[in-house]
Amino acid sequence: MRILSGVQPSGKLHIGNYFGALRQYLRLQEQGHECYYFIANYHALTSVQDKAVLAEMTLDVARSYLALGIDPDRCVFFAQSDVPQVTELCWILNCVCPVSLMEKATSYKDKIAKGLTASMGLFDYPVLQAADIVIYDSNLVPVGADQKQHIEITRDLAVKLNQAVGSEVLVLPEPYIVPEVAVVPGIDGQKMSKSYNNTIEIFQTPKATQKRCAQIVTDSTPLEAPKNPEQCNVFALLKLFATPEEQQEIADKYRAGGYGYGHAKKRLAELVNETFDAARQRYEQLLQDESYVRDVLREGGKKARATAEATMQRVREAVGIVTTY
Ligand code: ADP
Ligand code: TRP
Repeated sequence: MRILSGVQPSGKLHIGNYFGALRQYLRLQEQGHECYYFIANYHALTSVQDKAVLAEMTLDVARSYLALGIDPDRCVFFAQSDVPQVTELCWILNCVCPVSLMEKATSYKDKIAKGLTASMGLFDYPVLQAADIVIYDSNLVPVGADQKQHIEITRDLAVKLNQAVGSEVLVLPEPYIVPEVAVVPGIDGQKMSKSYNNTIEIFQTPKATQKRCAQIVTDSTPLEAPKNPEQCNVFALLKLFATPEEQQEIADKYRAGGYGYGHAKKRLAELVNETFDAARQRYEQLLQDESYVRDVLREGGKKARATAEATMQRVREAVGIVTTY
């Protein structure tokens, strides 16, 4: 089974990224599948204009992934821009993509609503993502629920190209979404997202984690009063970290009263800090060793390019593009 997924280097990694995406990447890697994981820096160019920021964030996501357990000996880990064939395939897919399909894409509408400029890059974002996926003959794409529509668009485009050329030149992928972590809430209760400024970052000091957890929005039920754990942002986050026994214990305390949101926030911060302690230490080491991080990406890029080029030879021939180099 060929697995593929990507993450944009558009901000610091947060616990929504971890539970919604990265943990699945790690599991699939452990299960011995052929995994391709990459940093979507061309996609990030649709929203990040500062060259120093984009370059640094690309390396930072690489460090973060490696620190959290992505193993370059067991998967192909690379930067999107090290595979220029992907933009070539994007163009070919553009030529079978109805404009109306892009107009229906919710992420474009959301981003415009948030004030991003309506560039052609932003409009074409799902087609580039489709190219990312099909160029590696991917079978399964682990993502959060917000990406489901992009996988559907990918399938639509793969079908359109296959129909246009009259053969199964592209493989159709399936999304892989774990329902219980499909949407991790942020400190304000909306979906946790870099762009909403409501994240709990993975790589920060234990103190900063405590501070952030203390900022989680709750209602004003007094300390003594019974509380409903199922309607609390802190409890929703605790559920991701605590064992089932501890979840039960804390839920009982909520319902009994005398247990304040402050207690729950403190426990959450402890659990976050414990969970990421080892990864934070590895991250600090990787910060000192940029050449290792670059070497990993270079090697991954080589493997990814070889796979992508094989697909492109098939695609060019199928659509009648003559190359003479
Ligand atoms: P952000 O919304 O912070 O910009 P990205 O869009 O870069 O995050 O998402 C990277 C990956 O993490 C995607 O697979 C996405 O579905 C997943 N993800 C991001 N935020 C969440 C969340 N709050 N809950 C679940 N998964 C998430
Ligand atoms: N759009 C994805 C996100 O914002 C990132 C991404 C780019 C991606 N290309 C991909 C995810 C291919 C899965 C497969 O999270």
